[in-house]
Amino acid sequence: MASYTLRINGQRKQVDVDPDTPLLWVLRDELQLLGTKYGCGVGACGACTVHVDGVAMRSCQLPVSQAESPPITTIEGLSENGDHPVQLAWLALDVPQCGYCQVGQIMSASALLDHTPNPTDADIDAAMNGNICRCGTYTRIKAAIKSVHAAG
Ligand code: FES
Ligand code: FES
Repeated sequence: MASYTLRINGQRKQVDVDPDTPLLWVLRDELQLLGTKYGCGVGACGACTVHVDGVAMRSCQLPVSQAESPPITTIEGLSENGDHPVQLAWLALDVPQCGYCQVGQIMSASALLDHTPNPTDADIDAAMNGNICRCGTYTRIKAAIKSVHAAG
């Protein structure tokens, strides 16, 4: 066990966990931030995506011992009222089906748009490639990402 102070959604949070505990489990089990989802645990599905220093990262692959310095944003911190432009686009286009993958999708999409406000199809494919949706909502996800620029 060791003590770590993380910068989560603009607040400092102290946790006492093993150094190799994945950030995903710190978020879910220690901080009760349950929006970030567990899918595969091996970095292959994207369900656990959060922003680390503004970059979309798989929280199941990031040990807490490497997560102390950079600011971390989860879906709970993306917007105050669920009204981030990406979230509004998701609602407008009725993107989710079962919903399980969608937090990860939104976190990857919002990181993409932060860095590339008007992404090409290739940009979207590259950024979203690692986010798996078993319900096959990919077409609506791409349309929603494109609509954010159009609406802005
Ligand atoms: S749970 Fe992290 S990539 Fe699947
Ligand atoms: S909406 Fe069901 S897995 Fe993506």
